[in-house]
Amino acid sequence: MLASHSTTIWYAMRATGIVALVLLTGTVVLGILTAGRVGSPSWPAFAQADLHKRVSLLAMAFLALHVLTAVVDTYVHVGWASVLVPFVSPYRPLWTGLGTVGVDLLAAVAISSALRQRMSARTWRAIHWLAYGSWPVAMAHSLGMGTDASRLWMDALAAACTLAVGGALAWRVHDHREASARAARAGATTRAVPVHRADRSAARLSTGASTPRPGSTRPVSPAPTGAGAPVEHRTASPTRLLEKDRT
Ligand code: HEM
Repeated sequence: MLASHSTTIWYAMRATGIVALVLLTGTVVLGILTAGRVGSPSWPAFAQADLHKRVSLLAMAFLALHVLTAVVDTYVHVGWASVLVPFVSPYRPLWTGLGTVGVDLLAAVAISSALRQRMSARTWRAIHWLAYGSWPVAMAHSLGMGTDASRLWMDALAAACTLAVGGALAWRVHDHREASARAARAGATTRAVPVHRADRSAARLSTGASTPRPGSTRPVSPAPTGAGAPVEHRTASPTRLLEKDRT
């Protein structure tokens, strides 16, 4: 079996764990911001999504190195099984197990993203929500397990990561509430002139055709098109108003 102990591997395990935690924090924060569409001309939505993807791939790479060095290092014995099966590690099973849960959740997110074209957007989004769950368990693992957990700099780093995720979540909840309030206001405005009725009256005025009653088999005359066609003035739908509001 592949196993080794050297101070290099020991330091590599700790360093890659810490870098993976910071990158995972960045991934979660960017994911929250991207989902909330915090776009600006200098940082458009596609650039945010791209950065989110790249940071997540980097996080996965450091996580893989962390897990590999943890398993091959003989100073602590965690075993290969604990890479994927939680709470079976002979060394500190609870704290190692939480790290494993984090890896499992991230693996589910990574695999579903690779197979995104083959599943519905709803299923993919439901699985993607697991990414949020991986962050608190990874943080608990890092603080419960880490040699550096009692050091001031590590506490400061953990506090900064927690503030970043907490701040992004608070912004997202606030943004979501504001969007709902805007949608309600837009709904109230358009309710005064119902969209379907306004459209039908406009069509009747412009074509002279009457809308068939329910159950009638008489076809509706098509609206004229081309140069002579009258300009149609549509009432903005609630969704359109909302989209406009958001930009
Ligand atoms: C999302 C997943 C994970 C993250 C973000 C993560 C991150 C970390 C961090 C930040 C530390 C503390 C380093 C230090 O302060 O010295 C640590 C320690 C450790 N991790 Fe992980 N880890 C994860 C998953 C795992 C898994 C799956 C295993 C085992 C298979 C593992 C094994 C270890 C071990 C053995 C230590 C102890 C190092 C020590 O005693 O100082 N980790 N991890």
